[in-house]
Amino acid sequence: MAGGDGLARVAGQAVFVPGAAPGDQVDLEIVERHKNYARGRIVEIIEESPDRTAPPCPVFGTCGGCQWQHLTYDAQLTWKREIVRDAFRRIARIDVDVAEVVRSPSPWRYRHKTAVPLGRGFYAHGSHEIVPFEECLIQHPLLDRVVRAVRELDLPPYDERTHTGLLRHVVARCNLRGDQAAVALVVNGEPRPGVAAPLMRAVPELRGVVANINTSPGNAILGDRSVTLAGQPAITEEVDGLVFEVSAESFFQVNPAAAAMLHRMAAEAAGSGGSALDLYAGVGSIALRLAREFDQVTAVEISEAACGDAERNAALNGVTNVRFVRGRVEDLGSERAEVVVLDPPRKGAGPEVIKAVAAMAPLRVVYVSCDPATLARDARALAAAGWAPLSVAPLDMFPQTAHVECVALFRR
Ligand SMILES: C[S@@+](CC[C@H](N)C(=O)[O-])C[C@H]1O[C@@H](n2cnc3c(N)ncnc32)[C@H](O)[C@@H]1O
Repeated sequence: MAGGDGLARVAGQAVFVPGAAPGDQVDLEIVERHKNYARGRIVEIIEESPDRTAPPCPVFGTCGGCQWQHLTYDAQLTWKREIVRDAFRRIARIDVDVAEVVRSPSPWRYRHKTAVPLGRGFYAHGSHEIVPFEECLIQHPLLDRVVRAVRELDLPPYDERTHTGLLRHVVARCNLRGDQAAVALVVNGEPRPGVAAPLMRAVPELRGVVANINTSPGNAILGDRSVTLAGQPAITEEVDGLVFEVSAESFFQVNPAAAAMLHRMAAEAAGSGGSALDLYAGVGSIALRLAREFDQVTAVEISEAACGDAERNAALNGVTNVRFVRGRVEDLGSERAEVVVLDPPRKGAGPEVIKAVAAMAPLRVVYVSCDPATLARDARALAAAGWAPLSVAPLDMFPQTAHVECVALFRR
């Protein structure tokens, strides 16, 4: 498997085949040729791989959300481990033992956050064509209900070609127990306050509605300004004895049951000591965990909403030894810490941040990653700067997709 596609070799050339399972025998048609690889399309499956299973979602194959519903859950885990191993071998050029992938507590209905373009459906693979859905089998049913309630409002959909229309995205989140939800309507223009009351009536679990204003023509989901239309648009989540207030727009792991395991893995890798730095801190989920084992923790986060949540969360949990710094990790300057934890977005930390981390001279670096390729790239830079990887532990935060989360521990 490569990037979620099946991988075949035809006359020595790599051919990426979406929807193929390792071990399938297929007739395929080459649909794109490049210098070093080609893309293929399955014409007929001649013999099915034992790793295949029937995908339960009616829009599987068209919708770009999941790529791996046709693989058994055990096969998904095997191939995720292989993807991480391959990234370390090929990109980092480091031989490190990659642990077995920790299973998600639930392989279905695990997502507690969704972002639905136009409130109608997800994008098809590699395009902005909307594939409508009634329910999404990897997200919590409460989120399906929130999205359906927004659809009932019949707001004019945004048209990205003409930059007209109103509703761009519906971003909704609910808590693990499924008794609280919050929704952000991402709009191209001024919000309509009248939409909030019918939404709150239709979904009693909604604690609040926010309008996020995004009038820029780009692909970013959220704009910079939010206006609360009703209630308090945040949910309360409980993870491993800690309570978190999470706004509709803040980052929080989409799979909170697996997040509890991830935070434990990150905290175990970090160990204990005097000072720790949590970079890309979100609403403080890892920082508050580290606060139990370190005298002083500094947490750095760019998003205003997340930083506000993080400070409230520290107070909510009675934690007084975490300092939150709102800003870019790149602008951090000369901090020092015994342990640095990084949890960057998919694009990874990059050379500038790795250089800054090395300048902090930590004993240990814990890198939490949702993209093995950028993790491996940054691991190579860390290794060159003198931090060797001790362990790489993948965790399945995103069942039915080719994505995998990892906690990698480096020691000076
Ligand atoms: C993958 S999330 C991790 C959040 C948190 N550690 C958790 O486990 O919930 C990445 C976070 O980094 C923040 N972020 C992105 N770019 C950043 C930057 N350049 N400097 C600081 N924070 C950034 C995002 O707002 C987001 O909250």
